[in-house]
Amino acid sequence: MSPSVKQTGFRGLRCVVGLLASILVVAIALLYWCLFVQVTNAGLAFENDLKIPPEMEFTINPDGTKEFVLRVQHRKTEFMDGKPADTLGVNSTYLGQTIRAERGDRVLLNVHNELKETTTMHWHGMHVPAEMDGTPHQTIRSSESWTADFEITQEAGILWYHPHTHGKTAEQVYFGIAGLFIVEDENSKSLDIPDTYGVDDIPLIIQDRLFHEDGSLDYQIRNGANFGESIVVNGTLDPYLEVEARKIRFRILNGSNARIYWLGFDDQREFEVIATDGGFLDSPVTVDRVRLSPGERAEIVVDFSKGDSVKLKSFPDAGLLETTSAWFGGTTNGHFDIMEIRPKNPTRESHNIPESLNRIHRIDPETAAVRRVIILGGMVINGKSMDMKRIDERVRLGDTEVWSIRNRTGRTHPFHIHLVQFLILDRDGRPPAAEESGWKDTVHVESGENVNVIMQFKQFANPDVPYMYHCHILEHEDRGMMGQFLVVDE
Ligand code: C2O
Ligand code: CU
Ligand code: CU
Repeated sequence: MSPSVKQTGFRGLRCVVGLLASILVVAIALLYWCLFVQVTNAGLAFENDLKIPPEMEFTINPDGTKEFVLRVQHRKTEFMDGKPADTLGVNSTYLGQTIRAERGDRVLLNVHNELKETTTMHWHGMHVPAEMDGTPHQTIRSSESWTADFEITQEAGILWYHPHTHGKTAEQVYFGIAGLFIVEDENSKSLDIPDTYGVDDIPLIIQDRLFHEDGSLDYQIRNGANFGESIVVNGTLDPYLEVEARKIRFRILNGSNARIYWLGFDDQREFEVIATDGGFLDSPVTVDRVRLSPGERAEIVVDFSKGDSVKLKSFPDAGLLETTSAWFGGTTNGHFDIMEIRPKNPTRESHNIPESLNRIHRIDPETAAVRRVIILGGMVINGKSMDMKRIDERVRLGDTEVWSIRNRTGRTHPFHIHLVQFLILDRDGRPPAAEESGWKDTVHVESGENVNVIMQFKQFANPDVPYMYHCHILEHEDRGMMGQFLVVDE
């Protein structure tokens, strides 16, 4: 072979390598675009004024109890103009009115089931006696009523209510039965923070939904749960919100069946997290993202005083592994536009959010009488599928307990415990992020992770009626990823 031929061969090889390299670069760029850049629900016009769920009226009885009436109804909602969809609501066509009460109030909640099927009504995050908890054991049959009667003994926080019907929770919530239950207390009323409902204190119930062409809701289980491709906020498709150009507080509930959101703004602005599920943080925590899995809540304060319009989004911060795992049934978030926020002239100065919001009593893990191991595996907890006739755990009244929640599956599960608000001790030995270091009743546990939480069982022993603990991906819950515990006085 002459040297010139050799040279040509070498050049040919370089050419092939060059070609392969460019194909690889293009493929990686494409994959990156698909995973992180492409907006799943691209093309929104932000043309619908965000609905604010009205506050539920109540009557004050001679004995001082506050009495609410919840009519669970089958109605029609036009998510798309001129295209009515069958929906469910509580005193409303879709979702429920917002209940507001104060610590120390005794409330009577009369739930009328006007549906054609059985339902229940659960006060998620509320510290209530087991028989008032609205679990699968307190069923309300079609055209019957049930009254929950309890005193609010916990601190201010953003709770919510939804059905807990055995095997039917996912569908009933999907079609619209869910509402906020705001608890106020002396502390929340004394803090100089935005608190005018619907003006500078805005509730946001974020849900993903699938729609048929005719505008009706499509309930489908794919990859073991329901994942929608459109976002509705307070039941509004494609929403915008006008706010005064100052600091605005949002009370956010991830009311989705299965989707996790990494919330933030398209201009990457920072904001302050002031509260978790069950109360205020000790001090505001500045972040540019907040992660909410189904059932979790956060209160945030965002400064709009510069006056520019901004988009609230959910970013694909899941990372490559979780994002690709979504194709095989993982519970990732995708990349969504949620709503546009348009500041207009303010009528007052911004609030100076106080440095001290709360004084959380940190429970000493040394005082825990019991450490329970909770293993999340497949659709089971500790190897068992939910059985209403079986008690899985017995908790002694008065005990402090640490629950060690271990996720042995390939996807994230939001773990919820009834009755209590707990504190996260650690995630795989590392302290929780500052923005999740407040009272929680639902915690996301990532694949392979071990999360330790601590709580006290101070009240409400009942040898017969159990409370629930479960995955808050509603299809997982319905398929058996739930257990029952009793609080017993020995
Ligand atoms: Cu939000 Cu047992 O549920
Ligand atoms: Cu609950
Ligand atoms: Cu789950």
